[in-house]
Amino acid sequence: MYNAFFGFADSPFNLSPDPTFFYKSQQHEEALANLIYGVQSRKGFIVLTGEVGTGKTTMLECLRDYLYAHRIEFAFLFNSRIKPEEMYEMIAYDLDLRCDRTSKTEVIYALNELLIQQVSEGRTTVLIVDEAHNLDWEVLEEIRMLGNFENRGGKLLQVILAGQPELDRKLDAPNLRQLKQRIVLRCSLKAFLEGETFEYVQTRLAKAGMEENKVFPPDLMAEIHLRSQGIPRLVNAICDNLLLTAFALESRICTMEMLDEVTADMRLEWPGRRLRLRPQLARGGA
Ligand SMILES: Nc1ncnc2c1ncn2[C@@H]1O[C@H](COP(=O)(O)OP(=O)(O)O)[C@@H](O)[C@H]1O
Ligand SMILES: [Mg+2]
Repeated sequence: MYNAFFGFADSPFNLSPDPTFFYKSQQHEEALANLIYGVQSRKGFIVLTGEVGTGKTTMLECLRDYLYAHRIEFAFLFNSRIKPEEMYEMIAYDLDLRCDRTSKTEVIYALNELLIQQVSEGRTTVLIVDEAHNLDWEVLEEIRMLGNFENRGGKLLQVILAGQPELDRKLDAPNLRQLKQRIVLRCSLKAFLEGETFEYVQTRLAKAGMEENKVFPPDLMAEIHLRSQGIPRLVNAICDNLLLTAFALESRICTMEMLDEVTADMRLEWPGRRLRLRPQLARGGA
């Protein structure tokens, strides 16, 4: 809506996990390198955790681009509230397995054939599960069994489980210890440090066509970091709303007042918020 007003070619703070806007913070870069290494070295299970909005799905999208580019076959389960039968059907669909996709036995046979054929061509195969903290026990057990396919060179199916920190706790459960033992790589994403939030916003603005940040002054940036607590999704939501507000007021620069309005509308909580807002509220109420 505001793109033309600010001269953006594209929306800078879209909430979709779009790899073209990928900002390589050190931890995001390391996590992606780890995922790629885990896949290439045919190690088996890899776990990626992080709080809501820290960039897990975006990271998986970057991995997906890598897999496409290297012609590595993969199945991507983005809906984790599924039953085992549905999981097999989704895997069969993604990997284009020619069999009765509603029959677990047929899917497993066809999958086995594909894995062997891929490995004979020097390629591995990958199963990615996003939001894996929601997986039912019985589905996790099926996934563990799929991770059993192997030959002398290593695992034939690399499994990546991505989810919120509860996933780690889930994998600690006694009935999942066999799966836990097979996890060879773990990566976790944390919120940005202040400098990273600055660079992150700068990167997204530049990708959208604004080479230098002319819209968020440095003191406002510091406050955006504080209020978002460095969570990329919240940074996006705040910046998007700020630009919208500035546009509505025909202002080319965002201000602290606009930020107060935006974060109040978003009902955001952040450390120290009460101290900051109470005196004003008290005056207003008196
Ligand atoms: N490293 C990053 N580079 C660019 N955008 C990011 C990055 N990390 C997160 N984002 C953005 O933050 C938002 C939330 O990311 P997402 O991957 O959906 O988080 P999660 O899956 O962990 O909840 C998305 O809009 C995404 O584009
Ligand atoms: Mg996600």
